[in-house]
Amino acid sequence: MKKKILHIIKKKNKSKIVSLTAYSKNVASILDNYCDIILVGDSLGSVLYNYKSTREVSLDMMIEHSKSVRMGIKKSLMVVDMPYNTYRNSKEALKNAKKIISKTKCDAVKLEGGKKIYNSIQTLVKNKIPVMGHLGLLPQSDKTFKFKGKKKSERENILKDAKLLERAGVFSIVLECVETSLAKHVTKQINIPTIGIGASNNCDGQILVFDDLIGLNPINARFVKKYLNIHKQIKKAVSNYSKEVRKAQFPSKKYSY
Ligand code: KIV
Repeated sequence: MKKKILHIIKKKNKSKIVSLTAYSKNVASILDNYCDIILVGDSLGSVLYNYKSTREVSLDMMIEHSKSVRMGIKKSLMVVDMPYNTYRNSKEALKNAKKIISKTKCDAVKLEGGKKIYNSIQTLVKNKIPVMGHLGLLPQSDKTFKFKGKKKSERENILKDAKLLERAGVFSIVLECVETSLAKHVTKQINIPTIGIGASNNCDGQILVFDDLIGLNPINARFVKKYLNIHKQIKKAVSNYSKEVRKAQFPSKKYSY
């Protein structure tokens, strides 16, 4: 059954929400059976294109990758990141969100930030565009990548922003790199699900970048658990292929016409 926004919201306090990123059809089709939400994250800028920051990711890049991902999804809710500088005001946010939805047929968009983007989020929601929020570490605007919640002011702002986003109508909020007790507190204080990445198991769900989970992306962040060392397996396969080609063992008769 195709997952809807309401299914995700109803999971709060009942069962954990499973989410992963995907940037292409083949990966999305594998993840689809196991995920509630598949996010086409703008992390693709650093993971696939080696950009220094997600700010370099364009709307067209997000749309092309999302079109590919769409083909691989049957059941999961598909969310697409709105890239940097595509939602600076309500008008711009609405125009670009409409473009993303019409070209990719995704179910929702994700925007980073709190108070500053309140009006943009409200406009999207009023126009029946489902929105996922994103608080804590904000890769599109933060200069340093440190976890959030050490300072009292940071804690107060994140809680305030979470309540504000709920009021604006988002259906869930990603909490990125948020200190454990703060993630727990925020999750308790709002009625929509929180989805953590580096934000402890106190959130209503979890998300990871798929390439990190399989060990393809050489990242060593504390919050990343590598469930597979695909790097090692690819090396072995390519090394075998290389040896067989050099010895003219591949292609054998079986692989020839
Ligand atoms: O861009 C992304 O992949 C994300 C997740 C890390 C939440 O925003």
